[in-house]
Amino acid sequence: MTADTSLDPVIEPIADADVSAVVDLWGRCGLIRPWNDPIEDIRLARESGHGAVLVARLGAAIVGAVMIGHDGHRGAVYYLAVAPDARRCGLGRRLVASAEDWCRTRGLPKINLLVRKENAGVLAFYEALGFADTRSVSLYKALDPVKAREEAEQKAAWAASIAAR
Ligand SMILES: CC(C)(COP(=O)(O)OP(=O)(O)OC[C@H]1O[C@@H](n2cnc3c(N)ncnc32)[C@H](O)[C@@H]1OP(=O)(O)O)[C@@H](O)C(=O)NCCC(=O)NCCS
Repeated sequence: MTADTSLDPVIEPIADADVSAVVDLWGRCGLIRPWNDPIEDIRLARESGHGAVLVARLGAAIVGAVMIGHDGHRGAVYYLAVAPDARRCGLGRRLVASAEDWCRTRGLPKINLLVRKENAGVLAFYEALGFADTRSVSLYKALDPVKAREEAEQKAAWAASIAAR
């Protein structure tokens, strides 16, 4: 389906009926990894009390989405996506502005976000919006040892598939 970008999408919180369309959008935008469960991520963001998923709705279509949350200190942006046929019309900028407003209304002074190394192209977008490199290294740990092993294998396979491209 081709989105009608002559109209302004409305940005609003996700509804239950939007979940599959949002997951489909994230898939089309290359944001899903085998070790993440986007449906579970959406559930947790909505039910945790400190997260949200915002969608950009154009008529019946979801043409953009972003997940936002906070850890009590800083906001964090995840899964920012604009449908390929709706890009470069300012929607990504509007979604990030909505995420910033979500943080401001909760008194959060800053936003952090991660850009995967294989997605370095998106840095120009974030720089245009005033984001800067923290010059930090991001570390993580999966807390379930079984899942940690599975995730390490999936990440190694993913890295090998990227290297083979
Ligand atoms: C990144 C993304 C959300 C940008 O959405 P968008 O709606 O096209 O962005 P905007 O139109 O609001 O762009 C705002 C500004 O960012 C910059 N920008 C956006 N895309 C860019 C690109 N591909 N290259 C260079 N600069 C870019 C431009 O300065 C642009 O302003 P301009 O169009 O007036 O020149 C979209 O490309 C996307 O969904 N990508 C795939 C998913 C992804 O990688 N998400 C980020 C995960 S970290």
